[in-house]
Amino acid sequence: MSEIEPAPVVEVKGAKIPLLGLGTWELRGRVCARVVEQALRLGYRHIDTAELYENEREVGEGLHASAVKRGDVFVTTKIWPSHFAPPELERAARECLVRLRLSEVDLLLLHWPNPRIPLSETLGALCKVKRDGLARHIGVSNFTVALLEEALQLSSEPLVCDQFECHPFLDQSKLIAACRKNDMAIVAYSPLARGEARNNDVLKRIGAAHQKTATQACLRFLVQQDIVVIPRTSKVERLSENAAIFDFALSDSEMDAIAALGSRDGRIVDWAYSGRMKWD
Ligand SMILES: NC(=O)c1ccc[n+]([C@@H]2O[C@H](COP(=O)([O-])OP(=O)(O)OC[C@H]3O[C@@H](n4cnc5c(N)ncnc54)[C@H](OP(=O)(O)O)[C@@H]3O)[C@@H](O)[C@H]2O)c1
Repeated sequence: MSEIEPAPVVEVKGAKIPLLGLGTWELRGRVCARVVEQALRLGYRHIDTAELYENEREVGEGLHASAVKRGDVFVTTKIWPSHFAPPELERAARECLVRLRLSEVDLLLLHWPNPRIPLSETLGALCKVKRDGLARHIGVSNFTVALLEEALQLSSEPLVCDQFECHPFLDQSKLIAACRKNDMAIVAYSPLARGEARNNDVLKRIGAAHQKTATQACLRFLVQQDIVVIPRTSKVERLSENAAIFDFALSDSEMDAIAALGSRDGRIVDWAYSGRMKWD
């Protein structure tokens, strides 16, 4: 029996994406499998992973151990830029499915832009992977407004989301507006600013006014704008806290006070993150 109500979904271009998912970056081994299984038993219905995280096997383990029906869980994975040339992309997608022990994922994303490979070729391969039934939906991650517009022009299949860094300390209003204009879901990664949200006085004060934590106020601020959140925790006891964000609402003035925390240079996951990784 699930302990939490299923999260509401965002519907775009035929995709129904639960507003709450579990992030899994840096979750490894037994901890990863256990947290994924517990999250699903608790009622989470959306899991976010990536080739890069080297945990797809454990995500798959948790998924299967939870005994939640496949059709009830929305699974996202991402292809790393070193695999963006067409033959590699398809091979990488197939390998993701083998590790996850799934016949298809719900959403397959390009993890970061790769300026060394023409976007038209990569999108052609991504669309083929979708048409071949390996992914129900496709999208991008870490794409700027300009790249997003280019990708939309080039893609023969609908792109359903851009997943990017999004939390109260970072002003992403331009990217958010571009997604909305193009009927794409906004998936917020690092929605807790990698844990920093818990220490912020404004979030603490607003959370306390609703008998909630700063973390919950932070996530509520995003989901109240129909922004999908994928907070990550390695601690089973925090899963319920992060999910209890649909039973209260922030007032307009509270939303404004949280929005005022944002700045253009509030990025925490640096673009250099991609540069530090091996692309070749
Ligand atoms: N597409 C991309 O390029 C990209 C980049 C970054 C992230 N992501 C995705 O987005 C997910 C989330 O982002 P993230 O992992 O960077 O950071 P995050 O979810 O913003 O924050 C995770 C941190 O917050 C702490 N935390 C979680 N719940 C908490 C709570 N209730 N109270 C206090 N602290 C709490 C966690 O610590 P504990 O583990 O100790 O709870 C962890 O240190 C990732 O896991 C990944 O799936 C995607």
